[in-house]
Amino acid sequence: MNKQVRRLVYLEAVVLWGYAYIGLWPFDYLTPASRYAFLAVFFLYLTLMVSPVTIVFPNVPYKLTILRARKALGISSFFFALTHALTAFRDNLGGFQGIAVLSLNERLPYIIGSAALLILIAMALTSPPFMVNRLGKYWKRLHRFVYLAGVLILIHVTLVPKSINLPPVLNRIIFAMLGFLIILEFVRFNRFLSVRYKFLENKRFWPLLSIAALYLIYALSY
Ligand code: HEM
Repeated sequence: MNKQVRRLVYLEAVVLWGYAYIGLWPFDYLTPASRYAFLAVFFLYLTLMVSPVTIVFPNVPYKLTILRARKALGISSFFFALTHALTAFRDNLGGFQGIAVLSLNERLPYIIGSAALLILIAMALTSPPFMVNRLGKYWKRLHRFVYLAGVLILIHVTLVPKSINLPPVLNRIIFAMLGFLIILEFVRFNRFLSVRYKFLENKRFWPLLSIAALYLIYALSY
């Protein structure tokens, strides 16, 4: 299982890619660009969850398998994001001619989306083992940019004019998933600070900050 997990993830991604292309339920409700957007974000979410889950819950079952799956999840997310961007460029924006008539303000969500896509391209290109060896300590620094990509994607999604409004229940599920990731990241950051700066040990302000951040997201999304 441990060795096969990446192949399984790639296989699953290819099947989902084809299923989204055909557009059967639940994808029939969405535009082709949105189908791949959601798959990209879902796989990126799983990629981002790996570190906090395995650090905050060190005894989580299948820990090594989860850690091994991360690379395949990230690369799959990149391919979904690329398909989304190309499909949106052709279908929603009408190619270069369509973009030419947009004002700078109207282009902003796509500029931000393109910046996020560039980061995902850099991650995917530097994922083979020989690139990890070649980049050494810079590899980890470079791959931290995935968090910036996550923030840019959030801004892109907020600003972009959408063709379909999601049902409120789905919005709530997305909100809860994001909240869970933020809480785990805060707990992880809290541990990192306590190790590095002893005076912060046993301080309880990070959980409070998490609740405040969640409230803020909740307030902004409704
Ligand atoms: C060149 C880069 C990009 C362009 C031109 C672009 C374009 C678009 C367009 C036109 C939409 C509206 C789609 C619709 O409602 O039918 C959209 C929505 C969206 N995009 Fe992008 N995008 C880009 C990059 C990205 C990236 C890298 C991601 C994330 C991995 C992403 C995630 C999303 C999401 C989640 C939505 C919302 C889908 C919905 O609510 O229906 N986009 N984008």
